Amino acid sequence: MKLRGEKISCLTAYDASFSALIDKAGVDVILVGDSLGMVIQGHTTTVPVLMDTMVYHTRCVSRARERALVIADLPFLSYATEAAAAVNTARLMQDGGAHMIKLEGARPDLVAFLVEQGVPVCGHLGLQPQSINRLGGYKVQGRAPVDADKIMQDALALEAAGSSLLVLECVPASLAGAISQRLKIPVIGIGAGLDCDGQVLVLYDVLNIGIGKRPRFSRDFMQGAGSIEAALQNYHKAVKNTEFPAIEHSF
Ligand code: KIV
Repeated sequence: MKLRGEKISCLTAYDASFSALIDKAGVDVILVGDSLGMVIQGHTTTVPVLMDTMVYHTRCVSRARERALVIADLPFLSYATEAAAAVNTARLMQDGGAHMIKLEGARPDLVAFLVEQGVPVCGHLGLQPQSINRLGGYKVQGRAPVDADKIMQDALALEAAGSSLLVLECVPASLAGAISQRLKIPVIGIGAGLDCDGQVLVLYDVLNIGIGKRPRFSRDFMQGAGSIEAALQNYHKAVKNTEFPAIEHSF
């Protein structure tokens, strides 16, 4: 899709019903994100999310989808070592039915190890919510040239290590555009501007049913849609037609 210039649409899901609806709407990728810690479990961060919970929700999502690729998040500290990453990846893929796993941070050696075992890996750079207690807040990353350069170098290292995809969260649109151009693998943005190869949003933000304030980079696709099905289709079309994200959703 990247080669033919077709944008990739991705939404999070955590259960079978929404998985089936997203799948039918034509969305390319379903992410079982550890954002479930916030939107399903009511935590203020993703840090408390447990491996068992990720496996349970991944299984629910995988069962109901027929077409879309399923990516599942390795949660906080579940990939601190190669051994832990191998065991927990096996759980997400064998018990959960995920096609690909996602992990946060610049961990090219770990990515290379998993890829060697036959695991498709999605990296995640920019804002890394599992590191929120170190970061001190949900802030845009890579504004200073030195930080932007570090994210670019990390992205190149993850690609060289064999990552199949890269999620870039909350980075300036100009940086995300430059990384998307430089990398051969697709870059999926969230709060990263229009020039990424695809977009991902948290489902509950798209449907405007979240508990807290909807993030600035998201859009309420229920507005004017009339049904959940129509809202999901509108999101998919807006990504494909490059109508989303607009300037007001970007940094
Ligand atoms: O957990 C999640 O939903 C994510 C997306 C925000 C990219 O990682």
